[in-house]
Order: sequence, then C-alpha cells, then structure tokens
Amino acid sequence: MKLKWKLLLVFVVVLVLCTASFAADRRIVVGFAQIGSESDWRVGSTNSVRQACADAGFELIFVDANQMQENQLSALRDFITRGVDYIGFSPVVMTGWDQIMMEIKDAGIPVIMLDRNIDMPNHTDYYATWIGSNFVEEGEKSALWLLDYLGIHGRWGEEINIVELQGTVGSSPAIDRKTGFENIIKDHPNLKITQSQTGDFTTELGKTVMESFLRRAQSDGVKIDVLYAHNDGMAIGAIQAIKEAGLVPGKDIIIIGVDAVKLAFEAILAGEMNVTVECSPLLGPQFVQAIKDIEAGETLDKITFSIEHVYDETLSKLMPHRYLSAEEHYPSRVY
Ligand code: AHR
Repeated sequence: MKLKWKLLLVFVVVLVLCTASFAADRRIVVGFAQIGSESDWRVGSTNSVRQACADAGFELIFVDANQMQENQLSALRDFITRGVDYIGFSPVVMTGWDQIMMEIKDAGIPVIMLDRNIDMPNHTDYYATWIGSNFVEEGEKSALWLLDYLGIHGRWGEEINIVELQGTVGSSPAIDRKTGFENIIKDHPNLKITQSQTGDFTTELGKTVMESFLRRAQSDGVKIDVLYAHNDGMAIGAIQAIKEAGLVPGKDIIIIGVDAVKLAFEAILAGEMNVTVECSPLLGPQFVQAIKDIEAGETLDKITFSIEHVYDETLSKLMPHRYLSAEEHYPSRVY
C-alpha cells in the first residue's frame, strides 16, 4: 500500500476512535428551570437537585427565575436553543405554558416536572414524569390535625375562626392546599375561614399580611383562633406579627404550617407553632433516577408522590401512629 493510503487509513482509524471515546465521555446535559429562592424549602430543593446531578456526573445548567414566569419561559427557550438532553422544570404558576411545552416536545427533549404542576390540555403528554407532593392531601392533613387538636382540647363544636395565608396566586400548592383544607372543614360549619390572602410563600409577606389580618380582626371585633399558612416561611413571619401585637402564638392563636422546615421545628419546640405538615423538597435523587431510567429505555410512571409526615409536640404523644414528634425528628432535618 502506498504511503499516502496508509496515512489516510491511520487518520480514519484515529478519527473513529476519537469520536467513539468522545461519545462515551459525553456528559448528560440537564437544564433546570427553578422557581426562585423564596423559601427555605426552595433552597433545600435547589441544593438537592444540584447535589444529585453532581453525584451523577451530569452537567447542570441551573436557572433561578426569581418567582417570575417570564424568566422561566426564557430559561426553557434557552435550553431548547442549547440542545440540552433533559429539562427539569418546577413551574411557578399552573397556566401559560402551552406554547413552550409544545416547543420542547417538538425539540424532542424529555421533561421531568418537579414539585409543581402545569394545567394545559393533555398536560401529561408533555412530560415524562412528575415527581412531587400531594398538595391536596397536605391541605387535608392540616385540617384533620386541627380537628384532632380541637377535640383533645375540649373545643369540638366551638366556633373557630381561621385566617389563611395562601401561597403564590395561581400556583399548584396554593390552589391544592386550599382545596384540601376546605374539603375537610366544609363538613364542620363551626370552622370558618374569616380572612384569606396570599403571602406569596415568603416570610416578609407572611408577616405583613398577618399584621393586616390582626388589624381587621380587631376593628371587626372578630377573634382569630387559628392561622393556616400554606408554608412554614409565612407562618414564621406571621408568628412575629402576632408577638408584636402582644398575643402569644401557639396559644392565643393555633399555628399550622406546611413544609416541615428546620425553622418550623424550632418554633414548635419553642411552643410558638403547633404543627407542620411535611412537603419534602429532597427530590434530587428521584430526579436523577428518572433521567437514568429514561436513558435505560424505561417508561416512567406519570406521577410519583413523595411519602410525608405531620410533626407536632402534642398529638404525636397521643396518636403516634398518625403524628410524629418534632423534637425527635429535629436533629435529622436537613432543610
Ligand atoms: O411548591 C412547594 C412550595 O413552594 C413550598 O411549600 C413552599 O415553601 C415553596 O416556596
């Protein structure tokens, strides 16, 4: 063989080997459009996704959308342009995603929904799986805990005025936690929601809105018996407002929160909060597993709910099969 042909053959072999090794080494690229960092819960969620992707050796393009839908939309569009392999997405609100979800589908990029869900026709056709909490159940558990609590304190049947701090308007946890809570209290006409407003899942707004609840309750001469906050962050802000108003949180007003963040456990142990219903943000490992399963050619379940508990320091002593002790589980909280 002539030298020219020999050199060409060597070149082709080297090229084939390099291409094969590049393909083998190529890292999976994941774009993740996160809602923001509005709560300790969300920070826990972000850390969990980052850590799990790093452990799996994925390249993660992470965008914090600062609670703004337009930022999430442009992040998703950017992921399509970059040709990422997978998209992780936790939508700030439920609606307004139809166009982008179609674009992602046309681009052939599998989507893994984490935590919150979307509302559009045939929405399950647009993602491979959704992993998160049963928000309706969280609302129901909050109300059921309240019924048990009133029962053991001899207040069953008493007129109970509840104020509600809702999460972000139009978000799935705010809609579902309200629905779940109302599903239960509708059969108990003595339990009334007397004021309800959004605190956007933030501690600051939780405090501001609670201040206005307290002012209005005072001017109307209507006592507040219970605060139902759609997350612990808002409950913590409200506790501050209650203390500043000269009342004792956890005693004068029963405080119910959702998430089970560390700060809520501390407030329960300090006697300033009564219960927290768990909503786990530690979904990173399941997120990564979903990607690995798709890589292995598996078809995923459309919905995977996380297993979650309710923590307090009263009913857990009497009904340990239903409620867990905040004190006992505090040391193991990681968010
Ligand atoms: O979507 C989950 C909710 O979002 C959490 O309850 C809240 O704390 C967070 O901001």
